[in-house]
Amino acid sequence: MTDRITIRRPDDWHVHLRDGAMLAAVLPATAAQFARAIVMPNLVPPVRSAADARSYRDRILAALPQGADFTPLMVCYLTDETDASDLAAGIADGSFVAAKLYPSGATTNSHAGVTDVRRIDGALAVLAKTGAPLLVHGEVTDHAIDVFDREAVFLDRVLAPLLARHHGLRVVMEHATTREAVAFVRAHAPRVAATITAHHLIINRNALFQGGLRPHHYCLPVAKREVHRLALREAAISGEAAFFLGTDSAPHPVSDKEMDCGCAGIFTALAAMELYTEVFAEEGRLDRLESFASLNGPAFYRLPPNEARVTLERRQWTLPKLHKVAGGSGVVPFRAGDEVGWALA
Ligand code: DOR
Ligand code: ZN
Repeated sequence: MTDRITIRRPDDWHVHLRDGAMLAAVLPATAAQFARAIVMPNLVPPVRSAADARSYRDRILAALPQGADFTPLMVCYLTDETDASDLAAGIADGSFVAAKLYPSGATTNSHAGVTDVRRIDGALAVLAKTGAPLLVHGEVTDHAIDVFDREAVFLDRVLAPLLARHHGLRVVMEHATTREAVAFVRAHAPRVAATITAHHLIINRNALFQGGLRPHHYCLPVAKREVHRLALREAAISGEAAFFLGTDSAPHPVSDKEMDCGCAGIFTALAAMELYTEVFAEEGRLDRLESFASLNGPAFYRLPPNEARVTLERRQWTLPKLHKVAGGSGVVPFRAGDEVGWALA
């Protein structure tokens, strides 16, 4: 049994760092684990322009603990009004490395998102030309579609036609949750890739109702049936270049989760690498952890892998029940109060 593994330092290709006191509270965990992260732009108001991205990046850098080695990679939040020339300039000067498509109304802070993908043709042309990826929240917003089917329907209704219309466009299917998404990514690789969260590798939809209603297991896209979780595991451990790590760690104050209409989001940043390592160890595929966590993402983003190394070791530790946030109610982490079998050395 392997008890230690050393890999290149990983990156998180999908994280929510928020702003203000929440940023200060959650950033140290992500910066301790990951060298770089794709920082989601769904703030209120969203990160829409290159100037917005630069000032948000400055706030992140200012919130970093002393001596941290962490680079935030910024993303443009696409809207019906996105200025394609600002996007192009932002990509050219490094303010943006990607752009995010939130279908309007699909998830947290997506109301300013895109109402019809045909309205962002100008922005998509810029992405296709530069090679900067389009990151998609891949769910339709049609309320007639069952919430558990919204990802699979998105692939057929939105993503396949989009890829056909924009030939050079490269796409990351963010937080893939279904076997349909896994198959779609494989069919369209290397143009299309997917991030996979730790929580979607660990829970299925039963976890939402385990002994009662469990708001801290609610995220979007919502966890699906067991067959889908198994398909995601198989994809993650496959070593295939199209699948890489993106935690979608999404902190919300406990007061916004435990309520009549609670927010979507699971906060995994406190133990992200430990949770992924646990999954790969359970699958007997620790040899593929480095591809998933540290190599495939940089290759897709056309960035060099990190030179530094990290070691994970088999050691039990217990996650806190609550992660404190100054002036707020705190955030309940995924697996709060439970043990994790791996630790960063
Ligand atoms: O569960 C989620 N939380 N899914 C998303 O797409 C957004 C995220 C958030 O920002 O809280
Ligand atoms: Zn997200």
